[in-house]
Amino acid sequence: MIIRHLLAADISEALAMWKRAGITLTFGDDPASLERCFQRNPSTSLVGEIDGKLVATAMGTWDGRRGYLWHLAVEPELQGRGLGRKMLEALEEAYRKMGIPKVTFQIETSNREVLGFYLRMGYHTRDDLVCVSKVLQQSAEEER
Ligand SMILES: CC(C)(COP(=O)(O)OP(=O)(O)OC[C@H]1O[C@@H](n2cnc3c(N)ncnc32)[C@H](O)[C@@H]1OP(=O)(O)O)[C@@H](O)C(=O)NCCC(=O)NCCS
Repeated sequence: MIIRHLLAADISEALAMWKRAGITLTFGDDPASLERCFQRNPSTSLVGEIDGKLVATAMGTWDGRRGYLWHLAVEPELQGRGLGRKMLEALEEAYRKMGIPKVTFQIETSNREVLGFYLRMGYHTRDDLVCVSKVLQQSAEEER
């Protein structure tokens, strides 16, 4: 698998793969928002491809303080072969090179079974935090 930066031309393939992989798509996952996101975070928006086909993604965003992870996903029929590990390690390396000291993110409780993967990758859970959010635009009303 070759890992490279996400391009605008990858977005429709990425969206289709995320649907197959069961990623929840919500506000911010329309093509224009995704393009704005990866243009702000070019070196941490990663895709994996095999024989020219997009098979994995890891979307990293940085707010100047922490690195975040979104939409780490592997094509379902290729899961369990080390590709997710490679994508996450590539993102971690990109963050290290940028001097970003810490990665944090949220997992939907409906996807709790994925936690084992992150524990295996050296992550730990936080039980001292609660996720808090507020919708600021009508177009985001589907956002929880
Ligand atoms: C989560 C995901 C990206 C992992 O990618 P993957 O290619 O299947 O995982 P890997 O084969 O690289 O696994 C890496 C290691 O984690 C372990 N692992 C993978 N999934 C695991 C799980 N659910 N529980 C425990 N361990 C797990 C593997 O055994 C492997 O261990 P090893 O390196 O010591 O042999 C992939 O399963 C996926 O796309 N899932 C659907 C989308 C999703 O839920 N994404 C996460 C959103 S938060």
